[in-house]
Amino acid sequence: MCGIVGFAGIKNSKEAVLNGLRKLEYRGYDSAGIAISSSDNVLSIFKDKGRVEHLEEIITKDLDGPLAIGHTRWATHGKPNKINAHPHISNNKRFIIVHNGVIDNYKELKYTKLSGFNFYSETDTEVIVNLIEYYSRKYDVSSSIRITATKLEGSYSCLIIDKETPDKIYVLKNKTPLLIGCGEKGNIIASDVIPLIGYATKYTNLEDQVFGIVTKDSVSITDYLGNKLEYNVNQVSVNDEEITLGRYPHYMLKEIEEQPDVIRRLISKYFDGENIIINKDLVSMFKSINKINFVAAGTSMYASLMGKYFFEKLCRIPSEVLQSSELVYSSPLIKDVPLFIFLSQSGETADSIAVLKKVKESGYPTLLITNNIGSTMASISDYCLDIYAGPEISVASTKAYVAQVVTMSILAKAVSGSITKLKNHLKSLAKKTEEILGKKVIIKGLADQIKDAKAVFYIGRGIDYWASLESALKLKEISYIHTEAFSSGELKHGTIALIEENVPVIAICTQEGTNGIVRSNLIETEARGAKSFVISMESLSQSSDSFIIPNVSHYLTPLLTVVVTQLLAYYTAVNKNLDIDKPRNLAKSVTVE
Ligand code: M6R
Repeated sequence: MCGIVGFAGIKNSKEAVLNGLRKLEYRGYDSAGIAISSSDNVLSIFKDKGRVEHLEEIITKDLDGPLAIGHTRWATHGKPNKINAHPHISNNKRFIIVHNGVIDNYKELKYTKLSGFNFYSETDTEVIVNLIEYYSRKYDVSSSIRITATKLEGSYSCLIIDKETPDKIYVLKNKTPLLIGCGEKGNIIASDVIPLIGYATKYTNLEDQVFGIVTKDSVSITDYLGNKLEYNVNQVSVNDEEITLGRYPHYMLKEIEEQPDVIRRLISKYFDGENIIINKDLVSMFKSINKINFVAAGTSMYASLMGKYFFEKLCRIPSEVLQSSELVYSSPLIKDVPLFIFLSQSGETADSIAVLKKVKESGYPTLLITNNIGSTMASISDYCLDIYAGPEISVASTKAYVAQVVTMSILAKAVSGSITKLKNHLKSLAKKTEEILGKKVIIKGLADQIKDAKAVFYIGRGIDYWASLESALKLKEISYIHTEAFSSGELKHGTIALIEENVPVIAICTQEGTNGIVRSNLIETEARGAKSFVISMESLSQSSDSFIIPNVSHYLTPLLTVVVTQLLAYYTAVNKNLDIDKPRNLAKSVTVE
Protein backbone atom coordinates (compact mmCIF):
# COMPACT_ATOMS: atom_id res chain seq x y z
CA MET A 1 0.00 0.00 0.00
CA CYS A 2 1.14 3.67 0.12
CA GLY A 3 2.05 5.75 -2.89
CA ILE A 4 5.33 7.52 -3.55
CA VAL A 5 6.29 10.15 -6.11
CA GLY A 6 9.54 11.94 -6.89
CA PHE A 7 10.40 14.61 -9.41
CA ALA A 8 13.80 15.85 -10.54
CA GLY A 9 13.44 18.77 -12.91
CA ILE A 10 14.35 22.32 -13.74
CA LYS A 11 11.68 23.72 -11.39
CA ASN A 12 8.12 23.13 -10.12
CA SER A 13 8.90 19.82 -8.47
CA LYS A 14 6.40 20.55 -5.67
CA GLU A 15 3.50 20.77 -8.10
CA ALA A 16 4.56 17.59 -9.93
CA VAL A 17 4.77 15.64 -6.67
CA LEU A 18 1.55 17.01 -5.17
CA ASN A 19 -0.25 16.32 -8.41
CA GLY A 20 1.09 12.75 -8.32
CA LEU A 21 0.15 12.26 -4.68
CA ARG A 22 -3.43 13.36 -5.35
CA LYS A 23 -3.62 10.66 -8.02
CA LEU A 24 -2.04 8.04 -5.77
CA GLU A 25 -4.26 8.68 -2.75
CA TYR A 26 -6.27 5.59 -3.69
CA ARG A 27 -3.26 3.60 -2.41
CA GLY A 28 -3.68 4.95 1.12
CA TYR A 29 -4.74 8.17 2.76
CA ASP A 30 -3.81 7.97 6.44
CA SER A 31 -1.13 10.66 6.15
CA ALA A 32 0.79 12.59 3.51
CA GLY A 33 4.18 14.24 3.32
CA ILE A 34 6.70 15.87 1.02
CA ALA A 35 10.37 16.96 0.99
CA ILE A 36 11.13 19.86 -1.35
CA SER A 37 14.54 21.24 -2.29
CA SER A 38 14.51 24.94 -3.10
CA SER A 39 16.67 26.42 -5.86
CA ASP A 40 19.39 27.24 -3.29
CA ASN A 41 19.37 23.56 -2.21
CA VAL A 42 17.65 24.03 1.15
CA LEU A 43 15.47 21.02 1.92
CA SER A 44 12.13 21.49 3.66
CA ILE A 45 9.88 18.72 4.95
CA PHE A 46 6.13 18.97 5.50
CA LYS A 47 3.98 16.09 6.70
CA ASP A 48 0.90 15.38 8.75
CA LYS A 49 -1.91 12.96 9.45
CA GLY A 50 -4.68 13.24 6.86
CA ARG A 51 -5.07 13.79 3.18
CA VAL A 52 -2.98 15.45 0.47
CA GLU A 53 -5.48 18.33 0.51
CA HIS A 54 -4.39 19.08 4.09
CA LEU A 55 -0.71 18.70 3.17
CA GLU A 56 -1.12 21.40 0.54
CA GLU A 57 -2.43 23.76 3.21
CA ILE A 58 0.59 23.33 5.46
CA ILE A 59 3.31 23.74 2.81
CA THR A 60 4.93 27.18 2.88
CA LYS A 61 3.43 29.19 0.06
CA ASP A 62 5.72 30.00 -2.89
CA LEU A 63 8.22 27.34 -1.82
CA ASP A 64 9.26 25.26 -4.80
CA GLY A 65 12.38 23.94 -6.42
CA PRO A 66 13.95 21.43 -8.75
CA LEU A 67 13.65 18.29 -6.61
CA ALA A 68 10.92 16.78 -4.43
CA ILE A 69 9.78 13.42 -3.06
CA GLY A 70 6.37 12.69 -1.54
CA HIS A 71 4.34 9.99 0.14
CA THR A 72 0.72 9.09 0.82
CA ARG A 73 0.38 6.44 3.52
CA TRP A 74 -1.69 3.40 4.40
CA ALA A 75 -0.44 2.67 7.91
CA THR A 76 1.26 -0.69 8.49
CA HIS A 77 3.78 0.01 11.29
CA GLY A 78 2.49 2.58 13.73
CA LYS A 79 -0.60 4.74 13.99
CA PRO A 80 -1.59 7.22 11.33
CA ASN A 81 -0.03 10.37 12.88
CA LYS A 82 2.46 13.09 12.04
CA ILE A 83 5.49 11.33 13.56
CA ASN A 84 4.89 8.16 11.56
CA ALA A 85 4.15 10.09 8.35
CA HIS A 86 6.85 10.06 5.65
CA PRO A 87 9.37 11.46 4.70
CA HIS A 88 11.70 10.19 7.40
CA ILE A 89 15.15 11.59 8.03
CA SER A 90 18.42 10.01 9.21
CA ASN A 91 19.86 10.92 12.62
CA ASN A 92 22.53 13.16 11.06
CA LYS A 93 19.80 14.78 8.91
CA ARG A 94 21.71 14.03 5.70
CA PHE A 95 19.35 11.46 4.15
CA ILE A 96 15.60 11.79 3.56
CA ILE A 97 13.43 8.89 2.49
CA VAL A 98 9.91 7.92 1.41
CA HIS A 99 9.10 4.22 1.34
CA ASN A 100 6.30 1.94 0.16
CA GLY A 101 6.40 -1.62 1.49
CA VAL A 102 7.22 -3.56 4.62
CA ILE A 103 10.68 -4.41 5.99
CA ASP A 104 10.30 -7.79 7.71
CA ASN A 105 13.65 -7.72 9.55
CA TYR A 106 13.55 -4.08 10.70
CA LYS A 107 13.62 -4.96 14.41
CA GLU A 108 16.66 -7.17 14.00
CA LEU A 109 18.49 -4.43 12.05
CA LYS A 110 17.49 -1.85 14.63
CA TYR A 111 18.88 -3.81 17.57
CA THR A 112 22.02 -5.16 15.88
CA LYS A 113 23.43 -2.62 13.42
CA LEU A 114 21.75 0.54 14.69
CA SER A 115 22.06 0.30 18.46
CA GLY A 116 23.44 3.84 18.88
CA PHE A 117 20.74 5.49 16.77
CA ASN A 118 17.63 7.33 17.97
CA PHE A 119 14.26 6.36 16.54
CA TYR A 120 11.37 8.77 16.69
CA SER A 121 8.62 6.94 14.83
CA GLU A 122 7.19 3.42 15.03
CA THR A 123 7.90 2.80 11.35
CA ASP A 124 10.18 0.27 9.69
CA THR A 125 11.26 3.04 7.29
CA GLU A 126 13.42 4.88 9.80
CA VAL A 127 15.62 1.78 9.91
CA ILE A 128 16.36 2.06 6.19
CA VAL A 129 17.36 5.70 6.28
CA ASN A 130 19.58 5.25 9.34
CA LEU A 131 21.19 2.18 7.85
CA ILE A 132 22.16 4.34 4.88
CA GLU A 133 23.70 6.85 7.31
CA TYR A 134 25.53 3.98 9.05
CA TYR A 135 27.15 2.77 5.81
CA SER A 136 27.85 6.31 4.61
CA ARG A 137 30.47 6.61 7.36
CA LYS A 138 32.61 4.28 5.25
CA TYR A 139 31.24 4.38 1.70
CA ASP A 140 30.00 6.86 -0.89
CA VAL A 141 26.27 7.47 -1.07
CA SER A 142 25.47 5.04 -3.91
CA SER A 143 27.39 2.20 -2.28
CA SER A 144 25.76 2.95 1.09
CA ILE A 145 22.29 2.69 -0.39
CA ARG A 146 23.11 -0.46 -2.34
CA ILE A 147 24.68 -2.16 0.69
CA THR A 148 21.64 -1.15 2.76
CA ALA A 149 19.39 -2.82 0.17
CA THR A 150 21.27 -6.09 0.54
CA LYS A 151 20.47 -6.09 4.28
CA LEU A 152 16.72 -5.54 3.86
CA GLU A 153 14.22 -8.41 3.87
CA GLY A 154 10.76 -7.59 2.63
CA SER A 155 9.20 -5.28 0.09
CA TYR A 156 10.26 -1.76 -0.65
CA SER A 157 10.16 1.02 -3.16
CA CYS A 158 12.20 3.91 -1.80
CA LEU A 159 13.09 7.40 -2.96
CA ILE A 160 16.05 8.91 -1.14
CA ILE A 161 17.55 12.38 -1.18
CA ASP A 162 21.10 13.00 0.03
CA LYS A 163 21.64 16.63 1.09
CA GLU A 164 25.24 16.40 -0.14
CA THR A 165 24.23 15.47 -3.71
CA PRO A 166 21.07 17.57 -4.00
CA ASP A 167 20.47 17.15 -7.73
CA LYS A 168 19.78 13.42 -7.43
CA ILE A 169 16.96 11.15 -6.32
CA TYR A 170 18.20 7.68 -5.38
CA VAL A 171 15.83 4.82 -6.01
CA LEU A 172 15.47 1.30 -4.61
CA LYS A 173 12.88 -1.20 -5.76
CA ASN A 174 11.95 -4.67 -4.58
CA LYS A 175 8.51 -6.31 -4.69
CA THR A 176 6.41 -3.11 -4.71
CA PRO A 177 5.85 -1.28 -7.98
CA LEU A 178 7.94 1.67 -9.14
CA LEU A 179 8.04 3.40 -12.51
CA ILE A 180 10.34 6.05 -13.93
CA GLY A 181 9.00 8.41 -16.58
CA CYS A 182 11.23 10.64 -18.68
CA GLY A 183 9.95 14.02 -19.79
CA GLU A 184 11.19 17.25 -21.31
CA LYS A 185 10.91 19.19 -18.07
CA GLY A 186 12.41 16.51 -15.87
CA ASN A 187 12.11 12.92 -14.75
CA ILE A 188 9.35 11.56 -12.57
CA ILE A 189 9.22 8.43 -10.41
CA ALA A 190 5.97 6.97 -9.07
CA SER A 191 4.21 3.89 -7.74
CA ASP A 192 1.78 3.87 -10.65
CA VAL A 193 1.53 5.22 -14.17
CA ILE A 194 -1.14 7.88 -13.57
CA PRO A 195 1.11 10.49 -11.89
CA LEU A 196 3.21 10.37 -15.07
CA ILE A 197 0.40 11.75 -17.22
CA GLY A 198 1.38 15.21 -18.43
CA TYR A 199 5.01 14.74 -17.35
CA ALA A 200 6.21 11.82 -19.45
CA THR A 201 5.09 9.90 -22.50
CA LYS A 202 7.43 6.96 -21.94
CA TYR A 203 8.33 5.07 -18.81
CA THR A 204 10.22 2.11 -17.49
CA ASN A 205 8.70 -0.37 -15.06
CA LEU A 206 11.54 -1.25 -12.69
CA GLU A 207 12.47 -4.88 -12.04
CA ASP A 208 13.00 -6.15 -8.51
CA GLN A 209 16.28 -5.59 -6.69
CA VAL A 210 17.44 -2.59 -8.63
CA PHE A 211 19.07 0.67 -7.63
CA GLY A 212 18.65 3.85 -9.64
CA ILE A 213 19.87 7.42 -9.78
CA VAL A 214 17.54 9.97 -11.33
CA THR A 215 18.46 13.57 -12.14
CA LYS A 216 16.60 16.13 -14.24
CA ASP A 217 18.13 14.79 -17.43
CA SER A 218 19.44 11.31 -16.70
CA VAL A 219 18.40 7.91 -15.40
CA SER A 220 20.84 5.19 -14.47
CA ILE A 221 19.81 1.75 -13.23
CA THR A 222 22.08 -0.91 -11.75
CA ASP A 223 21.84 -4.06 -9.67
CA TYR A 224 22.93 -4.01 -6.03
CA LEU A 225 26.53 -4.64 -7.07
CA GLY A 226 26.54 -1.57 -9.27
CA ASN A 227 26.40 -3.40 -12.63
CA LYS A 228 24.53 -1.33 -15.22
CA LEU A 229 21.19 -2.78 -16.34
CA GLU A 230 19.21 -2.31 -19.53
CA TYR A 231 15.59 -1.32 -18.94
CA ASN A 232 12.29 -1.71 -20.75
CA VAL A 233 10.49 1.30 -22.26
CA ASN A 234 6.70 1.51 -22.35
CA GLN A 235 4.26 4.09 -23.65
CA VAL A 236 2.06 6.00 -21.18
CA SER A 237 -1.30 4.99 -22.62
CA VAL A 238 -3.68 6.47 -20.04
CA ASN A 239 -4.97 9.99 -20.61
CA ASP A 240 -6.17 12.70 -18.25
CA GLU A 241 -9.81 12.39 -19.28
CA GLU A 242 -9.91 8.79 -18.11
CA ILE A 243 -8.88 9.78 -14.62
CA THR A 244 -10.79 13.02 -14.09
CA LEU A 245 -14.16 13.11 -12.38
CA GLY A 246 -15.81 15.35 -14.96
CA ARG A 247 -19.50 15.81 -14.16
CA TYR A 248 -19.57 13.07 -11.51
CA PRO A 249 -19.58 13.63 -7.74
CA HIS A 250 -17.63 10.42 -7.16
CA TYR A 251 -15.41 8.04 -9.11
CA MET A 252 -17.56 5.14 -7.99
CA LEU A 253 -20.61 6.52 -9.79
CA LYS A 254 -18.52 7.40 -12.86
CA GLU A 255 -17.12 3.88 -12.98
CA ILE A 256 -20.55 2.26 -12.52
CA GLU A 257 -21.85 4.36 -15.40
CA GLU A 258 -18.91 3.41 -17.61
CA GLN A 259 -19.92 -0.26 -17.53
CA PRO A 260 -21.90 -0.34 -20.79
CA ASP A 261 -18.92 1.21 -22.58
CA VAL A 262 -16.57 -1.30 -20.96
CA ILE A 263 -18.70 -4.18 -22.30
CA ARG A 264 -18.71 -2.62 -25.78
CA ARG A 265 -14.96 -2.07 -25.64
CA LEU A 266 -14.43 -5.74 -24.79
CA ILE A 267 -16.59 -6.75 -27.74
CA SER A 268 -14.50 -4.56 -30.03
CA LYS A 269 -11.22 -5.92 -28.63
CA TYR A 270 -12.09 -9.62 -28.55
CA PHE A 271 -14.36 -10.06 -31.59
CA ASP A 272 -13.61 -9.79 -35.28
CA GLY A 273 -17.02 -10.09 -36.87
CA GLU A 274 -18.43 -13.18 -35.22
CA ASN A 275 -15.00 -14.68 -34.47
CA ILE A 276 -13.35 -14.48 -31.11
CA ILE A 277 -9.79 -13.19 -31.26
CA ILE A 278 -7.73 -14.52 -28.41
CA ASN A 279 -4.11 -15.71 -28.55
CA LYS A 280 -4.26 -19.15 -30.24
CA ASP A 281 -1.50 -20.58 -28.02
CA LEU A 282 -3.52 -19.69 -24.98
CA VAL A 283 -6.68 -21.28 -26.32
CA SER A 284 -4.93 -24.49 -27.35
CA MET A 285 -3.08 -24.68 -24.02
CA PHE A 286 -6.46 -25.58 -22.46
CA LYS A 287 -6.22 -28.93 -24.28
CA SER A 288 -3.28 -29.88 -22.09
CA ILE A 289 -4.98 -29.27 -18.72
CA ASN A 290 -7.88 -30.96 -16.95
CA LYS A 291 -8.50 -28.59 -14.04
CA ILE A 292 -8.62 -24.85 -13.47
CA ASN A 293 -7.68 -23.22 -10.19
CA PHE A 294 -8.80 -19.61 -10.01
CA VAL A 295 -6.82 -17.52 -7.55
CA ALA A 296 -7.84 -14.02 -6.46
CA ALA A 297 -8.91 -11.73 -3.61
CA GLY A 298 -11.98 -9.58 -2.86
CA THR A 299 -14.11 -8.64 -5.82
CA SER A 300 -11.77 -10.44 -8.20
CA MET A 301 -12.39 -13.62 -6.22
CA TYR A 302 -16.15 -13.19 -6.52
CA ALA A 303 -15.73 -12.62 -10.26
CA SER A 304 -13.72 -15.87 -10.37
CA LEU A 305 -16.81 -17.76 -9.22
CA MET A 306 -18.39 -16.83 -12.53
CA GLY A 307 -15.24 -18.07 -14.31
CA LYS A 308 -15.68 -21.41 -12.61
CA TYR A 309 -19.28 -21.47 -13.78
CA PHE A 310 -18.41 -20.66 -17.42
CA PHE A 311 -15.58 -23.18 -17.67
CA GLU A 312 -17.54 -25.97 -16.04
CA LYS A 313 -20.73 -25.35 -18.05
CA LEU A 314 -19.25 -24.47 -21.43
CA CYS A 315 -15.94 -26.35 -21.45
CA ARG A 316 -16.62 -29.18 -18.97
CA ILE A 317 -13.36 -28.37 -17.12
CA PRO A 318 -13.65 -28.86 -13.33
CA SER A 319 -12.72 -25.59 -11.67
CA GLU A 320 -12.10 -24.32 -8.19
CA VAL A 321 -11.86 -20.83 -6.71
CA LEU A 322 -9.09 -20.27 -4.18
CA GLN A 323 -8.52 -17.27 -1.96
CA SER A 324 -5.00 -15.98 -2.53
CA SER A 325 -4.42 -14.96 1.11
CA GLU A 326 -5.16 -18.54 2.21
CA LEU A 327 -3.19 -20.18 -0.56
CA VAL A 328 -0.02 -18.29 0.37
CA TYR A 329 0.13 -20.30 3.58
CA SER A 330 -1.12 -23.68 2.38
CA SER A 331 0.00 -26.36 -0.02
CA PRO A 332 -3.06 -27.84 -1.70
CA LEU A 333 -2.93 -31.44 -2.84
CA ILE A 334 -2.66 -31.30 -6.63
CA LYS A 335 -3.44 -34.52 -8.47
CA ASP A 336 -4.73 -33.14 -11.76
CA VAL A 337 -2.99 -31.19 -14.50
CA PRO A 338 -4.08 -27.70 -13.58
CA LEU A 339 -4.01 -24.27 -15.14
CA PHE A 340 -3.91 -21.46 -12.60
CA ILE A 341 -5.98 -18.44 -13.61
CA PHE A 342 -5.27 -15.33 -11.54
CA LEU A 343 -7.71 -12.45 -11.50
CA SER A 344 -6.50 -9.07 -10.32
CA GLN A 345 -7.72 -5.64 -11.31
CA SER A 346 -4.47 -4.01 -10.22
CA GLY A 347 -2.08 -6.88 -10.88
CA GLU A 348 -0.31 -5.71 -7.71
CA THR A 349 -2.13 -7.55 -4.91
CA ALA A 350 0.60 -8.90 -2.61
CA ASP A 351 -1.08 -12.22 -1.72
CA SER A 352 -1.86 -12.99 -5.35
CA ILE A 353 1.70 -12.11 -6.40
CA ALA A 354 3.09 -14.45 -3.72
CA VAL A 355 0.89 -17.33 -4.92
CA LEU A 356 1.69 -16.63 -8.56
CA LYS A 357 5.41 -16.89 -7.81
CA LYS A 358 4.92 -20.17 -5.94
CA VAL A 359 2.83 -21.62 -8.78
CA LYS A 360 5.42 -20.58 -11.37
CA GLU A 361 8.17 -22.23 -9.34
CA SER A 362 6.11 -25.44 -9.36
CA GLY A 363 5.98 -25.31 -13.15
CA TYR A 364 2.20 -25.03 -13.66
CA PRO A 365 0.91 -22.82 -16.49
CA THR A 366 -0.49 -19.45 -15.42
CA LEU A 367 -2.88 -16.94 -16.94
CA LEU A 368 -3.56 -13.48 -15.54
CA ILE A 369 -6.80 -11.61 -16.25
CA THR A 370 -6.10 -7.99 -15.32
CA ASN A 371 -6.76 -4.32 -15.84
CA ASN A 372 -3.04 -3.59 -15.66
CA ILE A 373 -0.97 -5.35 -18.26
CA GLY A 374 2.10 -3.43 -17.10
CA SER A 375 1.77 -4.83 -13.58
CA THR A 376 4.04 -7.07 -11.53
CA MET A 377 1.68 -10.03 -11.99
CA ALA A 378 1.57 -9.49 -15.76
CA SER A 379 5.34 -9.64 -15.90
CA ILE A 380 5.37 -13.00 -14.10
CA SER A 381 2.45 -14.93 -15.61
CA ASP A 382 2.76 -17.01 -18.79
CA TYR A 383 -0.33 -15.54 -20.43
CA CYS A 384 -2.19 -12.32 -19.83
CA LEU A 385 -5.63 -11.07 -20.86
CA ASP A 386 -6.51 -7.39 -20.63
CA ILE A 387 -9.98 -6.55 -19.30
CA TYR A 388 -9.86 -3.07 -20.86
CA ALA A 389 -11.85 -1.45 -18.06
CA GLY A 390 -9.75 1.74 -18.06
CA PRO A 391 -8.38 3.17 -14.80
CA GLU A 392 -10.47 2.22 -11.78
CA ILE A 393 -9.89 4.88 -9.12
CA SER A 394 -12.62 4.27 -6.56
CA VAL A 395 -11.52 1.83 -3.86
CA ALA A 396 -14.75 -0.10 -4.34
CA SER A 397 -14.28 -2.16 -7.48
CA THR A 398 -17.23 -2.03 -9.90
CA LYS A 399 -16.43 -1.96 -13.60
CA ALA A 400 -13.50 -4.34 -13.09
CA TYR A 401 -15.93 -7.03 -11.86
CA VAL A 402 -18.07 -6.68 -14.97
CA ALA A 403 -15.03 -6.56 -17.25
CA GLN A 404 -13.47 -9.64 -15.64
CA VAL A 405 -16.68 -11.65 -15.94
CA VAL A 406 -17.24 -10.61 -19.56
CA THR A 407 -13.62 -11.43 -20.45
CA MET A 408 -13.96 -14.89 -18.89
CA SER A 409 -17.21 -15.53 -20.76
CA ILE A 410 -15.42 -14.76 -24.04
CA LEU A 411 -12.42 -16.91 -23.16
CA ALA A 412 -14.61 -19.84 -22.12
CA LYS A 413 -16.54 -19.57 -25.39
CA ALA A 414 -13.28 -19.53 -27.36
CA VAL A 415 -12.02 -22.60 -25.49
CA SER A 416 -15.33 -24.46 -25.89
CA GLY A 417 -15.21 -23.86 -29.64
CA SER A 418 -19.02 -23.82 -29.74
CA ILE A 419 -20.97 -21.71 -32.23
CA THR A 420 -21.34 -18.44 -30.49
CA LYS A 421 -24.24 -16.08 -29.95
CA LEU A 422 -22.21 -14.52 -27.17
CA LYS A 423 -21.47 -11.34 -29.07
CA ASN A 424 -25.19 -10.58 -29.43
CA HIS A 425 -25.79 -11.43 -25.79
CA LEU A 426 -23.04 -9.03 -24.75
CA LYS A 427 -24.32 -6.27 -27.02
CA SER A 428 -27.74 -6.59 -25.48
CA LEU A 429 -26.18 -6.77 -22.01
CA ALA A 430 -24.62 -3.33 -22.57
CA LYS A 431 -28.04 -1.92 -23.52
CA LYS A 432 -29.75 -3.54 -20.56
CA THR A 433 -27.10 -2.17 -18.22
CA GLU A 434 -28.03 1.27 -19.55
CA GLU A 435 -31.70 0.55 -18.83
CA ILE A 436 -30.80 -0.18 -15.21
CA LEU A 437 -28.71 2.98 -15.00
CA GLY A 438 -31.80 4.85 -16.18
CA LYS A 439 -33.76 3.62 -13.15
CA LYS A 440 -31.55 5.02 -10.42
CA VAL A 441 -34.48 6.68 -8.75
CA ILE A 442 -35.91 3.27 -7.75
CA ILE A 443 -32.56 2.23 -6.30
CA LYS A 444 -32.26 5.54 -4.41
CA GLY A 445 -35.63 4.75 -2.84
CA LEU A 446 -34.35 1.33 -1.70
CA ALA A 447 -31.22 2.94 -0.30
CA ASP A 448 -33.40 5.25 1.82
CA GLN A 449 -34.96 2.17 3.36
CA ILE A 450 -31.71 0.49 4.39
CA LYS A 451 -29.51 3.45 5.34
CA ASP A 452 -30.21 3.20 9.08
CA ALA A 453 -29.91 -0.58 9.31
CA LYS A 454 -27.29 -2.04 11.65
CA ALA A 455 -27.04 -5.18 9.52
CA VAL A 456 -28.14 -6.24 6.04
CA PHE A 457 -28.29 -9.73 4.54
CA TYR A 458 -28.15 -10.76 0.91
CA ILE A 459 -29.42 -14.21 -0.01
CA GLY A 460 -29.52 -16.28 -3.19
CA ARG A 461 -28.55 -19.66 -4.57
CA GLY A 462 -26.03 -20.68 -7.24
CA ILE A 463 -24.94 -17.73 -9.32
CA ASP A 464 -27.40 -15.48 -7.47
CA TYR A 465 -25.53 -16.39 -4.28
CA TRP A 466 -22.24 -15.48 -5.95
CA ALA A 467 -23.71 -12.13 -7.02
CA SER A 468 -24.86 -11.74 -3.39
CA LEU A 469 -21.30 -12.16 -2.15
CA GLU A 470 -20.08 -9.33 -4.36
CA SER A 471 -23.13 -7.22 -3.46
CA ALA A 472 -22.51 -7.63 0.27
CA LEU A 473 -18.84 -6.68 -0.10
CA LYS A 474 -19.82 -3.50 -1.94
CA LEU A 475 -22.37 -2.44 0.67
CA LYS A 476 -20.19 -3.14 3.70
CA GLU A 477 -17.02 -1.53 2.38
CA ILE A 478 -18.51 1.85 1.56
CA SER A 479 -21.54 2.17 3.89
CA TYR A 480 -19.93 0.50 6.95
CA ILE A 481 -23.16 -1.43 7.51
CA HIS A 482 -22.45 -5.00 8.55
CA THR A 483 -23.57 -6.91 5.47
CA GLU A 484 -23.30 -10.63 4.83
CA ALA A 485 -24.30 -12.86 1.96
CA PHE A 486 -25.68 -16.33 2.52
CA SER A 487 -26.75 -19.14 0.36
CA SER A 488 -30.43 -19.04 1.33
CA GLY A 489 -30.31 -22.80 2.01
CA GLU A 490 -27.86 -22.15 4.86
CA LEU A 491 -30.17 -19.80 6.74
CA LYS A 492 -31.82 -22.51 8.80
CA HIS A 493 -28.43 -23.96 9.73
CA GLY A 494 -27.71 -21.03 12.02
CA THR A 495 -27.86 -17.66 10.34
CA ILE A 496 -31.59 -17.19 10.71
CA ALA A 497 -30.89 -16.61 14.42
CA LEU A 498 -29.61 -13.17 13.38
CA ILE A 499 -32.94 -12.10 11.90
CA GLU A 500 -34.64 -9.50 14.07
CA GLU A 501 -37.47 -7.05 13.60
CA ASN A 502 -36.79 -4.85 10.53
CA VAL A 503 -33.46 -6.36 9.50
CA PRO A 504 -33.23 -5.87 5.71
CA VAL A 505 -32.88 -9.15 3.78
CA ILE A 506 -32.34 -8.78 0.05
CA ALA A 507 -32.99 -11.84 -2.11
CA ILE A 508 -31.56 -12.15 -5.62
CA CYS A 509 -33.84 -14.28 -7.82
CA THR A 510 -32.82 -14.60 -11.45
CA GLN A 511 -32.58 -18.36 -11.97
CA GLU A 512 -35.59 -20.45 -12.89
CA GLY A 513 -34.40 -23.50 -10.95
CA THR A 514 -33.95 -21.67 -7.65
CA ASN A 515 -36.36 -18.73 -7.83
CA GLY A 516 -39.15 -20.53 -5.92
CA ILE A 517 -36.97 -21.86 -3.13
CA VAL A 518 -35.14 -18.57 -2.55
CA ARG A 519 -38.47 -16.76 -2.34
CA SER A 520 -39.76 -19.24 0.24
CA ASN A 521 -36.53 -18.86 2.24
CA LEU A 522 -37.14 -15.12 2.16
CA ILE A 523 -40.70 -15.64 3.48
CA GLU A 524 -39.18 -17.57 6.40
CA THR A 525 -37.12 -14.49 7.29
CA GLU A 526 -40.19 -12.25 6.92
CA ALA A 527 -41.98 -14.49 9.43
CA ARG A 528 -39.24 -13.52 11.89
CA GLY A 529 -39.60 -9.80 11.28
CA ALA A 530 -37.20 -9.21 8.36
CA LYS A 531 -37.86 -6.32 6.00
CA SER A 532 -37.61 -8.15 2.68
CA PHE A 533 -36.52 -6.97 -0.75
CA VAL A 534 -36.33 -8.92 -4.00
CA ILE A 535 -34.14 -8.21 -7.00
CA SER A 536 -35.51 -10.44 -9.74
CA MET A 537 -35.39 -10.96 -13.49
CA GLU A 538 -38.38 -9.93 -15.58
CA SER A 539 -39.41 -13.44 -16.63
CA LEU A 540 -39.51 -14.58 -12.98
CA SER A 541 -40.72 -11.36 -11.42
CA GLN A 542 -43.68 -10.61 -9.16
CA SER A 543 -45.32 -7.21 -8.99
CA SER A 544 -44.14 -6.65 -5.40
CA ASP A 545 -40.45 -7.11 -6.29
CA SER A 546 -38.20 -4.22 -5.35
CA PHE A 547 -36.19 -4.10 -8.59
CA ILE A 548 -36.68 -6.07 -11.79
CA ILE A 549 -33.74 -6.49 -14.16
CA PRO A 550 -34.45 -6.99 -17.88
CA ASN A 551 -34.33 -10.55 -19.22
CA VAL A 552 -30.87 -11.67 -20.15
CA SER A 553 -29.22 -15.03 -20.86
CA HIS A 554 -29.38 -16.89 -17.53
CA TYR A 555 -25.60 -17.22 -17.20
CA LEU A 556 -25.03 -13.47 -17.51
CA THR A 557 -27.51 -12.29 -14.84
CA PRO A 558 -24.88 -11.33 -12.20
CA LEU A 559 -23.65 -8.73 -14.67
CA LEU A 560 -26.98 -6.94 -14.26
CA THR A 561 -27.81 -7.71 -10.63
CA VAL A 562 -24.48 -6.32 -9.41
CA VAL A 563 -25.18 -3.04 -11.21
CA VAL A 564 -28.30 -2.70 -9.05
CA THR A 565 -26.42 -3.59 -5.86
CA GLN A 566 -23.44 -1.38 -6.73
CA LEU A 567 -25.88 1.55 -6.99
CA LEU A 568 -27.64 0.46 -3.81
CA ALA A 569 -24.31 0.52 -1.97
CA TYR A 570 -23.45 3.85 -3.55
CA TYR A 571 -26.70 5.63 -2.63
CA THR A 572 -26.69 4.15 0.88
CA ALA A 573 -23.22 5.65 1.42
CA VAL A 574 -24.36 8.96 -0.14
CA ASN A 575 -27.29 9.01 2.32
CA LYS A 576 -24.85 8.52 5.17
CA ASN A 577 -22.59 11.26 3.82
CA LEU A 578 -19.55 8.98 3.74
CA ASP A 579 -16.29 9.24 1.86
CA ILE A 580 -17.33 6.95 -0.96
CA ASP A 581 -14.18 6.74 -3.07
CA LYS A 582 -11.87 6.44 -0.07
CA PRO A 583 -13.63 4.35 2.57
CA ARG A 584 -12.04 4.15 5.99
CA ASN A 585 -9.14 1.76 6.65
CA LEU A 586 -8.91 0.67 3.01
CA ALA A 587 -6.69 1.24 0.01
CA LYS A 588 -7.14 0.38 -3.62
CA SER A 589 -4.08 -1.80 -4.10
CA VAL A 590 -3.40 -4.20 -1.27
CA THR A 591 0.34 -4.43 -1.79
CA VAL A 592 1.18 -5.88 1.64
CA GLU A 593 0.17 -9.36 2.82
O1 M6R B 1 -6.50 -5.55 -7.61
P1 M6R B 1 -7.19 -6.81 -7.18
O2 M6R B 1 -8.32 -7.17 -8.05
O3 M6R B 1 -6.24 -7.95 -6.97
O4 M6R B 1 -7.80 -6.44 -5.76
C1 M6R B 1 -8.49 -7.39 -5.00
C2 M6R B 1 -9.21 -6.75 -3.86
O5 M6R B 1 -8.32 -6.05 -3.03
C3 M6R B 1 -10.31 -5.78 -4.31
O6 M6R B 1 -11.21 -6.39 -5.17
C4 M6R B 1 -11.08 -5.25 -3.07
O7 M6R B 1 -11.78 -6.30 -2.46
C5 M6R B 1 -12.03 -4.11 -3.45
N1 M6R B 1 -11.96 -3.09 -2.46
C6 M6R B 1 -13.45 -4.56 -3.57
O8 M6R B 1 -14.29 -3.52 -3.92
